[in-house]
Amino acid sequence: MKLISQSLRTKLIFSFLIIIIFGGLLSLSFGYRLVKNTIISQAQAKVRHDLSSAWMVFNEELNNIKEIVSLTSARESIREDIKNNSQSILLKKLSRVREEHRLDILTLVDRKGIVIVRTRNPGVVGDDQSQDEIIKRALSKSAVSKPQIVPRDELLRENKDLADLAYMEFIPTPKAAPRLENRETSGMMLKVASPVLDENNNILAVLYGGILLNRNYDIVDRVKETVYKEEKYKGREIGTATIFQHDLRISTNVKNERNERAIGTRVSKEVSNAVLVEGKPWVDRAFVVNDWYITAYEPIRNINNEIIGILYVGMLERPYIDTTNRVMLAFTIMASLCVVFLLVILYFSTSRIINPLRNMVIATQEIAKGDLNLEVKVDSKDEIGDLADSFNKMIADLKSANEKLIDWGKTLEKKVKERTKELREAQAHLIQTEKLASLGKLAAGVAHEINNPLGGILIYSHLLLEDFDKESPYYNNLEKIVKETTRCKEIVKGLLEFARPKEPETTSSRVNELLDNALSLLESQSLFQNIRVGKQYSEDLPLITADNAQLQQVFMNIILNAADAMKGEGILTLRTSLDADGEYLIIDFTDTGPGIGEEDKKKIFDPFFTTKEAGQGTGLGLSISYSIVRKHQGTIEVQSELGKGATFTIKLPVSGEIQDE
Ligand SMILES: Nc1ncnc2c1ncn2[C@@H]1O[C@H](COP(=O)(O)OP(=O)(O)O)[C@@H](O)[C@H]1O
Ligand SMILES: [Mg+2]
Repeated sequence: MKLISQSLRTKLIFSFLIIIIFGGLLSLSFGYRLVKNTIISQAQAKVRHDLSSAWMVFNEELNNIKEIVSLTSARESIREDIKNNSQSILLKKLSRVREEHRLDILTLVDRKGIVIVRTRNPGVVGDDQSQDEIIKRALSKSAVSKPQIVPRDELLRENKDLADLAYMEFIPTPKAAPRLENRETSGMMLKVASPVLDENNNILAVLYGGILLNRNYDIVDRVKETVYKEEKYKGREIGTATIFQHDLRISTNVKNERNERAIGTRVSKEVSNAVLVEGKPWVDRAFVVNDWYITAYEPIRNINNEIIGILYVGMLERPYIDTTNRVMLAFTIMASLCVVFLLVILYFSTSRIINPLRNMVIATQEIAKGDLNLEVKVDSKDEIGDLADSFNKMIADLKSANEKLIDWGKTLEKKVKERTKELREAQAHLIQTEKLASLGKLAAGVAHEINNPLGGILIYSHLLLEDFDKESPYYNNLEKIVKETTRCKEIVKGLLEFARPKEPETTSSRVNELLDNALSLLESQSLFQNIRVGKQYSEDLPLITADNAQLQQVFMNIILNAADAMKGEGILTLRTSLDADGEYLIIDFTDTGPGIGEEDKKKIFDPFFTTKEAGQGTGLGLSISYSIVRKHQGTIEVQSELGKGATFTIKLPVSGEIQDE
């Protein structure tokens, strides 16, 4: 019992748990992605914004140089010095400018592009710079400021230190695209060229200056400073910026394992393809040197709009991932708490389902033990309530069926008893009939043989009686012989009647009249002097088909027996009636005589059974009556107790025919 409810509850909770776990895992992974994507895409938006800040720093530097070079080229004294061809003064003045503003190079070329003054390397002059794209533009009177790749020989010309700074051997980088070279010799410069014009606006010279970006960390560090404000996460710097010359890191604040700036390493092949080959910006997570970053890359273009490098900013991804994880952890903890809470609620709410079921199980067990008076009490108006109602109805039906069965069993028992009684009676009649038949045959044979000699004896004793005088001593004896022989003849006659009764003559009979006839024949006898006869006739009896003479004989036999039994003193009641179904006429003869004992009752219909003194009764009266009544398809029975009189009952069918047996 306990087991059932527990397992049902366990099942309910278990299936609920499965749903929760499944749904929870699904929504967790979904939520994780959602949160992560949201946070990461926010970070990407930020990094994109950071990249434009980086460009601002980059361009500011370029403008700074431009301003220095333009202002210097516009100075009156410089113009005059050029006109006067005073190279040593120019060198002094320009060198001061270069040092003051910390330019890497500051060089003056004449209107044909031939170097006049080279502040960083004064010994090397006279080379032709007119083919340089930036200077070419300046020669056609416009100031230009652009990043530019400067080959090694050009760097050497400007200053050997610059060539050394630019020289960089590639550090093998796992994801980088393969390259034929294994080192970089040229450098990347922010280069500005500005024309020097005379009063008539004719070109006098071009002043160009610039900053070498290789191993120069001003820009990247300023980007980091302005954008990320030295923010750190677990000891690591969050923000990084890099300038690539082609795919090579030449200026960066990304650190390697040894915590050195990771110059000499190269960008991944993926980014290289997107930015350097296809010229597209790249914003995504990327593995930079030794950690994952959310990064933004954009191409750096020269004056001819050719891609010469990449500007990069990136934020360490870890803080964002950690934030995501924290959010997810909080979410998971909250969800788990909710599940626990739900389970507690579920545990108690299942009681509402299980308790009615438990009641029903208890009820069924009681009913199985046989107690059909039980009723399941469930108040819930749901399927369980319906179930309980059906259950109760079923029990009620069962109960009534059971009661019917018991009733039916009782009736059956009664019916069996009745039928057994009828059968026993029928059997008794049968035995009686057979007994009578065999006795009848025997008696008929004997009677027939005796009848003739008896006739002879009677005739001769009569003749002898006539011959003798009344005074003769033989007369008395002869008279006795005649008397006894006559009695014998009577007995034989009765026997013959019993054995071979006369053919019945059927007429319509009124039973009441037949009874009156029988009485009137007997009443005159002295035996009836002190006997009171009571008649209780039913007046509306139907006529029956019967042999009047034979029926009258039966009635006389029974009335005579009653008078004999009462020894001439008592009450004899004759009663006629119709049975309930109207099928039989019933005739009762009740006397106030001594009654009949149980043993005698079984024998009174046997031929020759008599309790009367020898010579008083033949014992044939009732057996003859029995066979006559049987012939009329009727029955004859006796009800009696010793000392309480006797009642003989004859039943005759209303629509019976006389049967030959
Ligand atoms: N009304 C009665 N009361 C008591 N005994 C009776 C009655 N009728 C018949 N009997 C018994 O049944 C016996 C058989 O009767 P029956 O066949 O008429 O022969 P019988 O009258 O010659 O004796 C009687 O001897 C008597 O013992
Ligand atoms: Mg008799």
